[in-house]
Amino acid sequence: MTHGFETLAIHAGQDPEARTGAVIPPIYQTSTYAQDAVGAPRLGYEYSRSGNPTRDALQECLAALEAGQVGLAFASGLAAEDTLLRTVCGPGDHVVIPDDAYGGTYRLFAKVAERWGLAYTPAKVSDADAVRAAIRPGVTTVVWVETPTNPLLGIADIATLASVAHDAGALLVVDNTFASPYLQQPITLGADVVVHSTTKYVGGHSDVVGGALVAADAELGERLRYHQNAMGAINGPFDAWLTLRGIKTLGVRMDRHCDNAERIAAYLDGHAKVGQVLYPGLPTHPGHEVAAKQMRRFGGMISFRAAGGEEHAVETCNRARLFVLAESLGGVESLIEHPGRMTHASAAGSPLEVPSDLVRLSVGIETVEDLLADLEQALG
Ligand SMILES: Cc1ncc(COP(=O)(O)O)c(C=O)c1O
Repeated sequence: MTHGFETLAIHAGQDPEARTGAVIPPIYQTSTYAQDAVGAPRLGYEYSRSGNPTRDALQECLAALEAGQVGLAFASGLAAEDTLLRTVCGPGDHVVIPDDAYGGTYRLFAKVAERWGLAYTPAKVSDADAVRAAIRPGVTTVVWVETPTNPLLGIADIATLASVAHDAGALLVVDNTFASPYLQQPITLGADVVVHSTTKYVGGHSDVVGGALVAADAELGERLRYHQNAMGAINGPFDAWLTLRGIKTLGVRMDRHCDNAERIAAYLDGHAKVGQVLYPGLPTHPGHEVAAKQMRRFGGMISFRAAGGEEHAVETCNRARLFVLAESLGGVESLIEHPGRMTHASAAGSPLEVPSDLVRLSVGIETVEDLLADLEQALG
């Protein structure tokens, strides 16, 4: 399809239902399907772990938005990551992971996959030479990248890392959760698989946990589909429906997230009670040029160092009122958190430990003046 992003978000995989004309894909809340004869399931549906029309609608839409061949939906972002790892890696393999990544992703590699024989090396993904040096030729099967990274908002050059990974015979996997496909399409830049926590911007309303994989290539996509069924970490029909409802407004939501985040980053930058502001939209951000090249805009996530240290960071989080103190991100409401003690506590003592004075904001789509006023009182 040659349609624009917003058209795909509203229509891809979502034709009116054939029998009734229902404009919105129905929630097929069924575990199984009547078969017309032994070995003749209707439209190929036989059991909802293997296939469900509501999930199929979401999967088709995800593939269209990420410009991939196959989209697959899962119970959570981590379920998607686990399915991917156990599809493309085996015992004895090695992966390169970001030295700044979502703490749960790090925990999956460090505490789960390593026990099954998958070695990993953290590398600075904003530095292509560091990634190249971390690759073990013939052994590294995956280069895993988040961009922007969670929570330090580092930027990796997707096109450059695709050639670094491919030169070594490895796949490039990009976690596109922070950007969303509206701001960045890694497959068009050379990535092999895109990962999402659809819990975040894709769903967009903080009401459903989910994950996704989108494969650039049909053959890899079919292997992932086989493992989705064989491992069983699917999402339910209602969760798929909620995610699809959220997707319809992804483009307009992201533009407002970006508008508000740009205003807030400019306000924080140079504020007496704030140290470094990490936002790829600031010209002083080391990844600004790469971000400008590969992203439509710079997103709704901002991190900053509290000038008064760890206690000041914690107090700022505790004082915020409109910014809700909570984990997660990407919903219409603004959230604030202390990564060191919250989302990234699992990385404490590891190479991925985050600074203790760091505060992370997920800037929502409320009236920006109200958000600025709340930050002003919260900073103390
Ligand atoms: C960048 C990133 N990737 C993956 C995940 C994991 O997704 P989920 O919480 O849906 O399992 C998260 C969760 O916060 C995340 O921020």
